[in-house]
Amino acid sequence: MCGIFGFTGWKDAAPILLKGLSRLEYRGYDSAGICMISKNRDLYINKAIGKVMELKNKINLSSLSEYTTGIGHTRWATHGGVTENNCHPHTSANGRFAVVHNGIIENYSELRTMLQWQGYQFYGETDTEVAAKLFEHLFMGDDFETLKKLTTVIEWAYALVFLDKENPGKLFGAKIGSPLVIGIGRDSWYVSSDYRSLIGLVDEYITLEDGDLFCIENNDYKVVNCGVELVRDKESITETEKHMELGDFPHFMLKEIYEQGEVLRNVFAGRIDFQAKTIRNNTLDEVVTQGFERVHIIASGTSYHAGLLGKQYLEHLADIPTEVTVSTEFKYGKQFIDKKTLYIFVSQSGETADSLESMKIVNERGGYTFGIVNVPGSSIARLAKAGLFTHAWVEVGVASTKAFTAQVATFLVIALAFGRKWNLEHMKFLSIIEDMQKIPVRIEKLLETSDKIREVAEKYASYLNFFYLGRSYELPIAMEGSLKLKELTYRHSEAYSSGELKHGSLALIDEYFPSIIINGSSPLHSKNCSSVQEVKSRGGKMIGIITSDDTKKDIYDDYLTFEASLPETEVFLEVIILQLFAYHMANTLGRDIDKPRNLAKSVTVE
Ligand code: G6P
Repeated sequence: MCGIFGFTGWKDAAPILLKGLSRLEYRGYDSAGICMISKNRDLYINKAIGKVMELKNKINLSSLSEYTTGIGHTRWATHGGVTENNCHPHTSANGRFAVVHNGIIENYSELRTMLQWQGYQFYGETDTEVAAKLFEHLFMGDDFETLKKLTTVIEWAYALVFLDKENPGKLFGAKIGSPLVIGIGRDSWYVSSDYRSLIGLVDEYITLEDGDLFCIENNDYKVVNCGVELVRDKESITETEKHMELGDFPHFMLKEIYEQGEVLRNVFAGRIDFQAKTIRNNTLDEVVTQGFERVHIIASGTSYHAGLLGKQYLEHLADIPTEVTVSTEFKYGKQFIDKKTLYIFVSQSGETADSLESMKIVNERGGYTFGIVNVPGSSIARLAKAGLFTHAWVEVGVASTKAFTAQVATFLVIALAFGRKWNLEHMKFLSIIEDMQKIPVRIEKLLETSDKIREVAEKYASYLNFFYLGRSYELPIAMEGSLKLKELTYRHSEAYSSGELKHGSLALIDEYFPSIIINGSSPLHSKNCSSVQEVKSRGGKMIGIITSDDTKKDIYDDYLTFEASLPETEVFLEVIILQLFAYHMANTLGRDIDKPRNLAKSVTVE
């Protein structure tokens, strides 16, 4: 994790670095720091524990107009505690070189011992400080040659950006495993962990590949891989600053919840022809004719929950046996890779290290990899053999919302494409397509009930433990709702199949342990009602997420409703209620909604 940002050009570096770091803060916000060189070779370093705002408060911008080259970092601690000493940028012992790093240098401990034997002293505990000292140790007069040597010694993952006090205007670095892009402006150059931090600053950027070394100097840049200088294709930035701004919303999470209707229109556009009631998409046409007999979905976090819904769709609508594995377990488990299986990797960021590493394994062993990714140009998007973007725009809130619904909608489209080709009854296919067109409007109507959801969330805000219950399509929704509650409120919650609760966990139920059941118009509605009774008769409180025409409303202590449709599409409304429930409760509890404690949005370390 961690976000790194660099700038060199004719403008003041400090405000640009701070802007870039604020935009990268979703990658970690334990501490932040910048290091800049002036034209007169003065070095300026400032660091702060906490968010970029803390750093901003420590910096007097008016005194820094001579500084036009710099690097910055926002940290999610891996090696070493959250202290100012461990905060990046890190410097060499002679104070000449400074570096920022995203990733983990796996052999840092051996290298640190070696350097200590050579007399180097360390002020902190990070692997990055080792890279700074090692750079100095290897330096023989040429920055780029030293960088080459350094990358043969350190073990990845890393994205590293250095500056050299004796060479103002120069930035250089390397990457393996962690993302890095170079933004190309007019006489100004940017380096960043994520091209979206460059929105509004440049129109074009290049994405560095694993093994690339780069150097920016004299208003030009070069990229070298395996000793060969090469040209990476320029990509254009299409998003505008509007996508990075809060507008009238108090939090990005709320803004992103409210964007979901529009996002689903985006997902369906270019894939579903609602007039002709059919699917039109070249990628899907190609994938469904490959003769796959099984699907294996691999993802982490919220994307894993989308994958669980993908399984429901693919099995129910397309009759394709589907397995879903959490990325970390896939990578270190026994993998059976074969040509008859479609391997789908789901990732908002496209950079989650566990998913990326799993994908590389499948690629190396000849499996067909397919990405469902939100960020164009991300590593997973580039490494997949085929894929679909989720078109949810930038998601800033650490707790994923619109990316999830976009992933689920993408799975629904994929399952319908497979189903139409194979077994799905035509009338059922048509009824789902017709229903899908109505989802965005239904979402917008549901959002009008946010105050009612807030009232219920406030009522339950003092409870410390929750069960989230559901079955079939609604079990992944329960899991996602439970994760949202944990992430945002720091309350304990567990998701269960409502049928499974009685096999042990029911013992926890008492008047202080409420449950939330997701019980729309599923064929298992009455089974779910029995589970409600089991909880109620043990004194447990029950909140129902139910359709507005449900006739059994009186079995719940409280309920939140949405418009009934098909089980395949109700999930979108159900999850939005749970997103808002967690949001309002977190707000009531005064939590940091867009940046919950201990988390980061893009987890680029294993
Ligand atoms: C982190 C985020 C989660 C996200 C997960 C997977 O843990 O905090 O919100 O679901 O990573 O991320 P991805 O980008 O692969 O979807």
